[in-house]
Amino acid sequence: MTQDSPGRLAADLARYLDQQQQDGTAWYFDEGPVAAAAAATLADPPATPVEAATPAALTPPAAATAAGGPEADAAAAAKSAREREFRAECERFVRETLTQIRNRPVAPVAAAPAAPDLFAAAPAATPDGPPAAPAPVSKRLALESLAAEVAVCTACKLHPTRTQTVFGSGNPDARVLFIGEAPGRNEDEQGLPFVGRAGQLLTDILRAIRFERDEVYICNILKCRPPENRDPERDEADACEPFLRRQLAIIQPHLICCLGRHAAMTLLDTRASLRSLRETVHFYQGIPVLATFHPAALLRNPHWKRDTWEDVRKLRALHDALLADAS
Ligand code: URA
Ligand code: URA
Repeated sequence: MTQDSPGRLAADLARYLDQQQQDGTAWYFDEGPVAAAAAATLADPPATPVEAATPAALTPPAAATAAGGPEADAAAAAKSAREREFRAECERFVRETLTQIRNRPVAPVAAAPAAPDLFAAAPAATPDGPPAAPAPVSKRLALESLAAEVAVCTACKLHPTRTQTVFGSGNPDARVLFIGEAPGRNEDEQGLPFVGRAGQLLTDILRAIRFERDEVYICNILKCRPPENRDPERDEADACEPFLRRQLAIIQPHLICCLGRHAAMTLLDTRASLRSLRETVHFYQGIPVLATFHPAALLRNPHWKRDTWEDVRKLRALHDALLADAS
């Protein structure tokens, strides 16, 4: 059978090793039979307008050197076809999404209070507009105050079983915010989001699109760990959401990425499948939202990494385009 032929295996291994030398892209290959699928996304660069605007975002981590044999050639041809297809799709996605973002009616932003009160409730967000501008104090201080409030929260039934709350971490001025579901055991112990195995994978995925963790912001829908990592319940998400709104009002990211279906369903209040949610941009409080797989889901199902890799490259391209748009 073709899959096990020595030529194919050698080509896959060569590609695997090339990849591992590339900083930050090992995540793609570190588990499961993804090398062959991965090969399809690594390749040759027809210059496109999006690529011109965002060179590294769309440039594959490494151009694999095909090592020998007709099978390797066929794999190389398939991968460049897939890559060309992806680039065209990415370009269309960014163009259409920018249009959607620009064409949204701008909701009036409430004026910041004259005397900033860090402990006041979030400035009321307009139903579908962006959150009101935060008081003109440092975002870091505002986040620290909010975190202190969260730390003593007893608003839902999760507080008795938590070790501590997990508020979020990263750059208070982040343009991109990643949001998961809820803290797990490691996060509950350390008080930081995404620090377990899934968190390491998230770090690697971020690196692969040239983001460091401390450059973006990472948090969860829920600030407390559900017992035995069960799914968050509606009343818990509802009780926690005001904190999230205030967090977003302070940070004011220009893009949110939901990690996994649960985060997306809760944030966007929908029952839609992750497949369909991944296809297009959504809005939360006027902020554009994309969705992709949860890193923990990728640990269980490595074959989803290929789609994730495309999602995050689109996200990076959209981020770069939004930055270019703003300047
Ligand atoms: N999974 C999540 O959704 N969030 C974390 O912080 C860790 C794992
Ligand atoms: N992948 C995810 O990340 N979450 C789901 O719920 C389903 C697929």
